[in-house]
Amino acid sequence: MIKIAVMGLGTVGTGVVKVVEANETPIYHKLGDKLEVKTALVRRFKENSPYRSLMTDQFSDIENDPEIAVVVETIGGVDAAYTYTKRALCAGKHVVTANKQLVAEHGCELLRLAKEHHVNYLFEASVAGGIPILHPLTQCMAANRVDEIYGILNGTTNYILTKMVREGATFADALKEAQEKGYAEADPTADVEGIDAGRKTCILSDLAFGHQTDPSVVPMEGISRIDLKDVEIAEKAGYRIKLLGRCLRLENDGRTAYVAPHVIPVDNPIAGVEDVFNAVVVRGNATGEVMFYGKGAGELPTASACVADVIEALQATPGRPEISWDDNTDGFRDPLELTSSYYVRVKGAPSEKFGDVKILSQEAGQSAFITSAMTGHEIQSLTADALACLRVLA
Ligand code: HSE
Repeated sequence: MIKIAVMGLGTVGTGVVKVVEANETPIYHKLGDKLEVKTALVRRFKENSPYRSLMTDQFSDIENDPEIAVVVETIGGVDAAYTYTKRALCAGKHVVTANKQLVAEHGCELLRLAKEHHVNYLFEASVAGGIPILHPLTQCMAANRVDEIYGILNGTTNYILTKMVREGATFADALKEAQEKGYAEADPTADVEGIDAGRKTCILSDLAFGHQTDPSVVPMEGISRIDLKDVEIAEKAGYRIKLLGRCLRLENDGRTAYVAPHVIPVDNPIAGVEDVFNAVVVRGNATGEVMFYGKGAGELPTASACVADVIEALQATPGRPEISWDDNTDGFRDPLELTSSYYVRVKGAPSEKFGDVKILSQEAGQSAFITSAMTGHEIQSLTADALACLRVLA
């Protein structure tokens, strides 16, 4: 019998216990032994919980238990999660997590610590929930130089945008539904303002380019400033608005990353990704574009990725060297240096400074159009008074 502990019994932690119970047989076949959740760390005991017998409020019960081989951290945030992760690794336990904030901010250090203690620190569930992306990126695409990754990386905002477009739901109602379904973060500001997608983008950049991408320097814009009018104009003209995280390799070992809403032609497969689904496109120099698609949030999809990492941690001892990056943050460049077309809405007609424009709508004294390609710096200087300005994904 292999015993594990779960730290945190929220949506994902509870899902981990359920997946281990429900999929006992396939897990047994992979491990050659039975897997059992022995202990669950909680802040408060819930007397009527079916998992009451697993609960402790003392981390030391996990840290000092020699039977516990793997700890699944689903506490979220940085404070307690960071401290307990370090202590678990130092106690010689593998740690698996869905905590993108912790990995984005401290992953480099935690991976180093895991290596020193001959254990694994794995975090497939931290990016795009149930979609396998970090393993394919680091293993199946290992023969490539990865030049770009972009994708819909937040289920909550994609769910909200879909409900607004398809059903005309208000932002507030759609967010409430996403919270009820267990998609949103404890504080949904991180979802809505692009911070959650930004942390995931940083992790993808770290693994793809091999250097730390510091979340505090990555521009992150969410969906709270999107006007329904632009959603409607875009739809009528054959485009869809989606929140994308994107990271790119630049010349001279440079790289950049950002999160922002994009206007996307409807014939691009990523424009058709709806509800809580995420999609991640990886561009390798040998493969070209490869797209990964599935549920990006929710109890069981995210728990599936955590439990797969538990199995992997036990099988891959002592460690996976390709899951690592260095702490060199030099080489990060402002994404405003990138060149792109933009969707712009202004009062009156477009100025000729926008180049050869494609008009999408002209009504009520306003024009919406797609500009010629220009840098982010150039578009900023031209759109101080614009009613909307969104990057176009070519
Ligand atoms: N709040 C996140 C989302 C959960 O909506 O995508 C999964 O990381």
